[in-house]
Amino acid sequence: MRLSWLVAVAIATLTPGENGPASAPDLPHFEGAALVQPTGYEEWPVAGTSLGLSYSESSTAGPGSFHRVYMNPSAYRAFKRTGTFPDGTTFVLELFEARERTSILKGGFFEGRRTGLEASVKDRARFASGWAYFGFENGARARALAHGETECHACHAAHGQVDSVFVQFYPKLRAD
Ligand code: HEC
Repeated sequence: MRLSWLVAVAIATLTPGENGPASAPDLPHFEGAALVQPTGYEEWPVAGTSLGLSYSESSTAGPGSFHRVYMNPSAYRAFKRTGTFPDGTTFVLELFEARERTSILKGGFFEGRRTGLEASVKDRARFASGWAYFGFENGARARALAHGETECHACHAAHGQVDSVFVQFYPKLRAD
């Protein structure tokens, strides 16, 4: 009797249910000022993918790399409902080299080795601009401190379509 009551309480506590993002299990985890590398994001919605978007001086010839942008499910649902990104929104950006002419392929490109793992988090209480950006050295780093404002956020703030996010490149988030 007592045990089943405890189990019921435990389940109620662990179930995100209608309590909104505050109790969702996919929220970012910080240790001090450092963001712990997000886990489980392979199962998150993919907001969009791109090939060869070049916005840095170091862009080289060739197709460039694939970018795959995941978003934590609780924030994804909130954005679809309200059109705004709640605190706790987490994007994970994976970069892959573009490979071609393997096996039966005569043309086209597919994702090769992963070459980068980055993330961004919205938290208005924690970050002055509302957003912070993190690099995990392609997964080698278990936790990361935020990059400086000018390094990442300046470009996002100036060119990201909605609240510093590049919604214009993400078919799952933009209107069309
Ligand atoms: C010159 C502009 C520019 C700078 C500087 C920049 N980004 Fe981005 N970022 C983009 C563009 C464009 C996208 C859109 C999608 C893509 O690249 O795949 C993007 C997308 C992202 C995303 C996916 C979520 C979103 O906001 O759209 C993350 C995460 C990200 N960048 C991290 C970083 C980090 C970390 C840095 C700094 C080390 C950085 N960015 C610096 C232009 C920039």
